[in-house]
Amino acid sequence: MCGIVGYIGSRDAYPILIKGLKRLEYRGYDSAGVALISERSAHLNVYKVKGKVSGLEAYGEREDLSGTIGIAHTRWATHGEPCQVNAHPHLSASGNLALVHNGIIENYNVLKEKLQKKGYLFKSDTDTEVLVQLIDYMKESGKLDLLTAVRLALKEVVGAYALAVIDQTYPDEIIVARKSSPLVIGIGEHEFFIGSDASPIIEYTDQVVYPEDGEIAILSKGKPLKVVDLSNVALDPEVQTLELNLGQIEKGGYPHFMLKEIFEQPECIQDCMRGRLHVEENEVILSAIIDHKDKLMNAKRFIIIACGTSWHAGLIGRQLIEHYCRIPVQVEYASEFRYSHTVVGEGDVVIAISQSGETADTLAAIELAKEKGAFVYGICNAIGSSISRATHTGSYIHVGPEIGVASTKAFTGQVTVLAMLALTLAKVKGTIADETLQEILQELQVLPEKMKKALETNEKIASLSRIFTYAHNFIYLGRGYNYPVALEGALKLKEISYIHAEGYPAAEMKHGPIALIDMEMPVVVVATHNSLYEKLLSNVQAVKARQGRIIAIVSEGDEVISEIADYCIELPRTVEALDPLLTTIPLQLMAYHIAVWKGKNVDQPRNLAKSVTVE
Ligand code: AGP
Ligand code: GLU
Repeated sequence: MCGIVGYIGSRDAYPILIKGLKRLEYRGYDSAGVALISERSAHLNVYKVKGKVSGLEAYGEREDLSGTIGIAHTRWATHGEPCQVNAHPHLSASGNLALVHNGIIENYNVLKEKLQKKGYLFKSDTDTEVLVQLIDYMKESGKLDLLTAVRLALKEVVGAYALAVIDQTYPDEIIVARKSSPLVIGIGEHEFFIGSDASPIIEYTDQVVYPEDGEIAILSKGKPLKVVDLSNVALDPEVQTLELNLGQIEKGGYPHFMLKEIFEQPECIQDCMRGRLHVEENEVILSAIIDHKDKLMNAKRFIIIACGTSWHAGLIGRQLIEHYCRIPVQVEYASEFRYSHTVVGEGDVVIAISQSGETADTLAAIELAKEKGAFVYGICNAIGSSISRATHTGSYIHVGPEIGVASTKAFTGQVTVLAMLALTLAKVKGTIADETLQEILQELQVLPEKMKKALETNEKIASLSRIFTYAHNFIYLGRGYNYPVALEGALKLKEISYIHAEGYPAAEMKHGPIALIDMEMPVVVVATHNSLYEKLLSNVQAVKARQGRIIAIVSEGDEVISEIADYCIELPRTVEALDPLLTTIPLQLMAYHIAVWKGKNVDQPRNLAKSVTVE
C-alpha cells in the first residue's frame, strides 16, 4: 500500500508533493514524509512525521523546504510500526540517497544481514531501508552512477516495489522503478511528475506513461523520459492521454468522499451502462464478450476471484450467471485461491473483479490462472491498472475514481457489469427467454431513477442511525440475491464504525447465530418482495420472538414485515436479480451515518487502505 509522489522541473516541489500526498492518502495514512534537494544548500533534506500528511505541513517555514526536485510518501506499514523512524523517505548511510517505496521486499532479511556485515547500520525496522542501503552500497563500492547502482540492486531484490530515489550528487535526476506495485509518470513541459496513481498529476498534465514490471525510468531535468529494463536495454515508453478530470477527484460539496460516492451511484450506473444497453433491440453488448464469444460460451465453468467488497459482488455474479446462463460458477477469495489446490485449467474462465485493479492477491491469482491455461476476464474500475493489463480481456465498470476507502459505487458498478455480462452471454447462448431479457433490460434502464428514490431515505436513515451508536454488534440477514448484500452491509459497518457486524444467509441463523439475539441486538433484514419473501418472513419472526431489534429493508407497500419490524426503510420494487443494486444503498447510508455519529474518520478508517498492493 502507500502513496508515492515525485516532482522534478522548475517549480517549487514541496507544495506539489504535499497536495499529491493528500490525494493519495486513501492508500495509507499512518505516517508521511518528503525529501527535497535544497535550492539553497544543494543538500538533501528529509522531513517525516507519524500520522497524516497534514502533520508534514507543521514543518512550515522554520525549515528549508526549497527545491525543484523531491519525492514524498504516505505510508501504510507492512514492516515496522507506524512511527517517524519507519516513515519514508529512507536515507542511505552515505547521506546521499533518499528513497520511497510501495510494496514488500521479500528477501530483505538476507540482504540486510549481508549489508550489516559490510558495516551498514540500519535505523528503521522496515524492509524498504534495505533498498536504499543496497543501492548506496552498489554505488559507493563499485563507484557507479545512480542508474547502474539501482539496476544492479534491483537484480538482487525479490518482492514487489514501486520506488523513487533521488541522490544529492545527481541533483537533476529522479530514478523510478516498478514491479507489481503501481506507478504513473506524468510528462509536462520540461518537468516530470510521479504518482502511485494519476490523481496527483492530473492538474498539471494529461500525458502519462505507465512503466511495466521490471522497468526503470530516468527523469532528468530538460531531457526526454528514458526507460530501460534491468539489463539496461533502452525501451520505447508508450505515452497515453489521461481521461480523468480534477472535478472527478474532489468532494464537490459533500462532507466526505464516501457520501459523495454513495450519492453518485445513479449517475455512475448510467455511465456504466452507456452504449451497452439496447432495450429496443432487446440486447446488451459487452464488447469483450462478443469478441471472445466462443471461449465464454463454451466455458465448462466460471471461477470468480476477488477480495472484500469485490468478492461480495462476485457472489451476486455467481447467482446471475448460474441463473441466466446455466454455467456453473465458483467464487473464491483471491488470497485463498492462489494457495489452494483448486483444479483450474483450459476450458475455465476466471473472472477477476477489482475496483483498484491493483490488489496484490487478485493479481497473483490471475497470474496463476493464466499459467494453468485459464482464460481471464477482468472487471476493473481503474483504467490502465495492473489487473486490467494482466487479464486477457474484460470490461471496465466506468464509475469514476473511488476515493473513500469503503467501497460503495464500485460495488453497484461491479454488480451492473456482472448483470450485463450474464445477460449478454445468456442471449448469445440462448438460455434466456426474450420476454425475461426485455423485462430486465427495461428495469436496468429505469434503475438510476429508482436508485435516486432509494437515496431519498438518507434523512430517515441518518436519524435512525443515531439510535444505534450504542451497539457493539450488528447482525445482517438476507437470502438469495440479497444474501451477499447482507455480507456487504456488515463489512461496510465494521470498516468505518468499528462496530462488530456479521452477515448471514437468514435461514442459517437457526444453526447458531440465533444464540446472539437479545433485546440489545440490532438485526438488519433485507426483506424486499421476491421469491424468498415468505421464507424470510419466518426468519424475521424467529428474531422477533427473541426480542432482537429489527431494522427491515422492504419494498414499497410492504404490509407484513413492516408490521413486525421496529424500523422500516422502503425501497422501489425491481426484478429480483437487480434487487442488490437498490438494497445495498440504505446499508451504505446506515454504515456511513453510524460512523459519522460516532465521530469516526469515514474516508480513512483506521488500519485500512484503499488499494491493498501487498499480500
Ligand atoms: C471495501 O470497502 C474494502 N475496503 C475492501 O474490502 C476492498 O473491496 C478490497 O480490498 C478489494 O479491493 P479491490 O476491489 O480494489 O480489488
Ligand atoms: N514495506 C514498506 C513499509 O512497511 C512499504 C509499505 C507499503 O508499501 O505499504 O514501510
